[in-house]
Amino acid sequence: IKIVTTHQLQEMKSKGEKISMLTAYDYSMAKIIDQSGVDVILVGDSASNVMAGNETTLPITLDHMIWHATSVVKAVKRALVVVDVPFGSYQGSSSEALRSCIRIMKESGGHAVKMEGGVEIKESISRVLSAGIPVMGHLGLTPQSIYKFGTYTVRAKEEAEANKLIEDAKALQELGCFAIVLEKIPSKLAKKVSESISIPTIGIGAGPNTDGQVLVVHDMLGITQDFKPRFLRQYADLNKIMHEAFENYVSDIKSQKFPNEKESY
Ligand code: KIV
Ligand code: NA
Repeated sequence: IKIVTTHQLQEMKSKGEKISMLTAYDYSMAKIIDQSGVDVILVGDSASNVMAGNETTLPITLDHMIWHATSVVKAVKRALVVVDVPFGSYQGSSSEALRSCIRIMKESGGHAVKMEGGVEIKESISRVLSAGIPVMGHLGLTPQSIYKFGTYTVRAKEEAEANKLIEDAKALQELGCFAIVLEKIPSKLAKKVSESISIPTIGIGAGPNTDGQVLVVHDMLGITQDFKPRFLRQYADLNKIMHEAFENYVSDIKSQKFPNEKESY
């Protein structure tokens, strides 16, 4: 197969080459991201926030995720496409988890799935893995559990939670996950986790010592306005560029500068 494989990600960790990952939810954006050489494209359930305007990731459904993933897969030639399994479609029942993941793989053509949680969801993870579906783990600030945490602040600052996170990471590796996202945890802990497992870790707000990095594409492009955590580096100010373009468009219409003769038939 021509795409980046989970085995190549493993090799990248062994060689010390950092892994790049970005989210995408639609065809046009995914095409630009893929052509830019990003290794992994995550069809994140953050689509619930950035695409649908919800406050949390909880409302997005399996059908919605499959819709986004299908659009992304059509655009991608090189990157590994990982699809988030949405809240309510895998926890608590390994049969339901398997059914959800099979639907994602069959209907969207995605290459792997991501599920949030550690030992709590081990049955679901192993059932999905046993069907030959690669699974990416996700530990730390797992947004599907936001009402349990009650806050979006850094996780695992206390020793008990940090120790559980290390145990969970080891358990996910034992089960056979090919990588783990570490979200919003202290750098020191992320370093310790990354050194104590052989599968790659991909960090977001987890410092420089993970094996790769991921950001939400609308955040790093500066399209999102009201979300500026310290871990977020803005690589563009698309909000400003888009505002200017839209305002110029309106103004050209009002002043009858658009369309001109060359732009007419
Ligand atoms: O849904 C998402 O965007 C994610 C990343 C932040 C890891 O899960
Ligand atoms: Na997610």
